[in-house]
Amino acid sequence: MNCLKTDGRLFYIETARTCYVFSIEHGYAEHLYYGAKIPYSDCNALREKRSVILVNTLYPYEDPSYSFDCKGFEFSLPFRGDSRSASVNLVCDDKVFDFEYEGYEKNFRPEQSPMPLPRKYDYALNVRFNDRSHEGVRLETRYLISYDEDVIARYCVLINASGKDIKVLKFSSAQTDMSAENKKLITFHGAWGREMSKMSQDITCGRYTHGSFSGMSSAECNPLFFVSDANAGENSGEVYGFNLMYSASHEISTEKTPYGGLRILHGIQSENLLYTVPSGEKFTSPCSLSTFSDKGFNGASENFHRFVSKAVLRKKEIPVMLNTWEAVYFSMNEDKMKKLADNAAAAGFECLVIDDGWFSGRNDDTTSLGDWREDIKKFPGGMKALSSYFASKGLKTGIWIEPEMISRKSYLFRIQSEYALADDRLRPVVGRSQYILDLTNPAVAKYVEESVSRLVEEYGAEYVKWDFNRRFAEVKAEKGSGYFYDYISALYAILARLNEKYPQLIIENCASGGGRFDLGMAYYTSCGWASDNTNPLSRARIQRGVSYGYPLSFTLNHVAASPGHQTRRASDIKDRINTAFLGVFGVQADISVISEDEADEVRQAVSLYKVFRKELYDSTVYRLFEDGDGYVIMQTLSQDKKSGFLFLMREKFDTVTQLPVIRLKGLEKDKCYRIKGDSTDVCASGETLEKAGLVLPQNYQGAETSDGILNLTDGKTLLLRITQKECL
Ligand code: DGJ
Repeated sequence: MNCLKTDGRLFYIETARTCYVFSIEHGYAEHLYYGAKIPYSDCNALREKRSVILVNTLYPYEDPSYSFDCKGFEFSLPFRGDSRSASVNLVCDDKVFDFEYEGYEKNFRPEQSPMPLPRKYDYALNVRFNDRSHEGVRLETRYLISYDEDVIARYCVLINASGKDIKVLKFSSAQTDMSAENKKLITFHGAWGREMSKMSQDITCGRYTHGSFSGMSSAECNPLFFVSDANAGENSGEVYGFNLMYSASHEISTEKTPYGGLRILHGIQSENLLYTVPSGEKFTSPCSLSTFSDKGFNGASENFHRFVSKAVLRKKEIPVMLNTWEAVYFSMNEDKMKKLADNAAAAGFECLVIDDGWFSGRNDDTTSLGDWREDIKKFPGGMKALSSYFASKGLKTGIWIEPEMISRKSYLFRIQSEYALADDRLRPVVGRSQYILDLTNPAVAKYVEESVSRLVEEYGAEYVKWDFNRRFAEVKAEKGSGYFYDYISALYAILARLNEKYPQLIIENCASGGGRFDLGMAYYTSCGWASDNTNPLSRARIQRGVSYGYPLSFTLNHVAASPGHQTRRASDIKDRINTAFLGVFGVQADISVISEDEADEVRQAVSLYKVFRKELYDSTVYRLFEDGDGYVIMQTLSQDKKSGFLFLMREKFDTVTQLPVIRLKGLEKDKCYRIKGDSTDVCASGETLEKAGLVLPQNYQGAETSDGILNLTDGKTLLLRITQKECL
């Protein structure tokens, strides 16, 4: 399929419900429109109508009506008349650049890239620009289009055949210029244990930058963001969504001009960027994804979910796992592991993940990273024998590793301290007593690869939990923050080689919870740990945040002990289980020390989850309530619209209140549905459930308790099953 329409001057990129239009004017790629689909035949009108003279702004010599500051462009350069923040800043021979349109390739096939590109797309466009004063240098803007999903992946490539070095000071993946009228910006910020917190703000005049500057995509600011109508909601309004297929520091910036324009830049961190591209080499930005929906945030999220499932994820069935971290922390040994395995197998789990603490010398978090050898004191029979024991119980073996790290107190540091990103001339800066390894050193990359291979080949791991628990300080000074780009390219290359070598291996992406929860890591791994915080009240909000850009099938979600180790908040086993159903279900607790009733609930949940997981992975997910109204209410619906789940978390209870009317989404209007679960059993048509909604039987008002009354107080949840049924 190739839906590009062009006359060589006007470019019209089409998806199922959107179009993206630019035109070549005076050698510039002028951006004309992105949004709900309009006919190709009208696009010339867009171009002509836009000529305005802005007093005191700059324009090309031959055309005073072409003010740079009121046009949109596909990319921009500094010191060339456009006074907004530029997307690309390059210097060669102490001269800046002035790229002009050269040509395009319609049936373009991108070459191998150090950055992940969508695995699938429907068609691609490459547009070339060159510079009269820098012979041999080319800038290319690329577009990979996923038609049905309404997602466009954009990225830039700098090709240097000039015989000279080019200094890169800024290199955004994508620029989106549009009208600033009535817009707001939605980003996802947070910290450890409270990742993916939705933040909505007005876009006001001036430049605003959010992002991560710590070398990783970060819990502080996820690369996912939206720009929407000021009054857009979950189910209505125009919404533009953006995400980056990248795992290092990144930047989201918006700029509202005095002329009513909005420039959105997205890409790698530009602060402190110093990068040299020698002649004969290329520099490729990561892919920036964009989508548009006029059906509110749910519409944009659905586009992203479908795109991520089709073009990013390595599709694998993730086993229902029990993870040892919060069950035993560092205090592990062979007997405890065998006992956990016995219990896990009896409860129906499919995998036991041996978390941190299994390798030589590791009794707390201050030592031994890098020494990835089994600890014979803890495991006298060895890891292989242990994994065989797990296998005899029908369990896969998972093993935790933090392969990019080295502890100051480790054998590896004693013999190979130059592997660490540390500078002896400076005062040491550590996080969790550890340094990051310099993956750009090929000897280090080999060491990392061999360490992970050992888990698979010698210790019998079929699942690897890949952790990353500190941020960057030192970099290679000559690259500045450009080092993060080289680092992450080296990491992607290692992961790609491991995936090729072990196609069945399941890799979990973790970074102190959700510190590197992004589509770059999602591309090379099979599931991700979004947060260490498993308390239902916190987790339901985190999962709601995650749902804006990432499908359920990628997001691990565990039941842990009560009170929760992160919040000290007590919670009911039912609420922990219900919340964990909003992702890839698992447990991290010692199920032999919980009450028989709780153990029973866990056993039932494991077997129920196995029945429904396929449906859940492929389901559409809707957020039914707006943010911040005291509830997290989410619904799933299978692709055939025959079944789903309704999840409700009441965050705060007030006396003498009524549960809200819940309007379901996506149901077939003329079919009958049954909503069943905790004291609820309702049947109605899809149309009624969407329009009039569902009123849950209420309930506890604060004055009495008795059986059969829905007792939804602070942090309590419901999980109801939705099924289509024959109408009577
Ligand atoms: C941080 C992770 O988020 C936890 O799940 C656990 O694996 C610890 N690291 C282990 O050190």
